[in-house]
Amino acid sequence: MKNETVIKQGPVIAIDGPAGTGKSSVTKRLADALGYTHIDTGAMYRSIAYLGLEKWGGIEELTEERSVEVANTTSLAFRREPSKNPANRIYANGRDLTDKIRTPEVSMAASRVSAFKGVRQALLSLQRRLGCQGKTILEGRDIGTVIFPDADVKFFLTASVEERAKRRLAELEASGVDVPTFSELVKQIEARDFADTNREIAPLKVAVDAIVLDTSAHTLDEVVAQLSAKAKERIKRT
Ligand code: DC
Repeated sequence: MKNETVIKQGPVIAIDGPAGTGKSSVTKRLADALGYTHIDTGAMYRSIAYLGLEKWGGIEELTEERSVEVANTTSLAFRREPSKNPANRIYANGRDLTDKIRTPEVSMAASRVSAFKGVRQALLSLQRRLGCQGKTILEGRDIGTVIFPDADVKFFLTASVEERAKRRLAELEASGVDVPTFSELVKQIEARDFADTNREIAPLKVAVDAIVLDTSAHTLDEVVAQLSAKAKERIKRT
């Protein structure tokens, strides 16, 4: 597929980093604070993974060819529905998948399908098109390095593996699903980090011009306040 050229209609903010750094909550809050549109690119990979699992049955069955076929035949769209929680919903071929894509199985499958070149290619132009509408915040792994190397502001969030496992455990407990042990969670997070960082295509890495913030010792409010101030300062200058 050829990459089309798209022109930014307004500022674009990139937020990258591994899972469990608070990226999603921070991005959501920052988007609300700045009046920007939030684009969760992880949810796009998760949706492809979910549909692949549904069609083929298990993670091992998700070959590159099958995953690319799912990605190429799925039309993804975000819709804001204030009466629902979360309000930012993802639809695949008209089906609302928002509440189905956060399970540990879908997380592992998303990590697998996101390493396939054809899957990334299929999602890249949609991510650029959505981002180019302006006043957008895209969250992911390769936003500042591949999708929007010319983003107006780039953030990279990190946190210690232990802190991320602690947060994930609390999240899982709150959602009432079966929870793994703390050490099992640490292992899962390390495995996903390894896969995301070491894949050949668009690996998770810090863009040279990104602002790096370790969120381990900060509350959500503190992180949002810092990022909001930095984003306003940078965007004013551009
Ligand atoms: O952010 P998340 O946990 O919802 O992302 C799910 C998976 O998708 C994750 O393992 C990495 C992958 N991903 C990616 O490769 N590139 C992105 N821009 C976003 C997510």
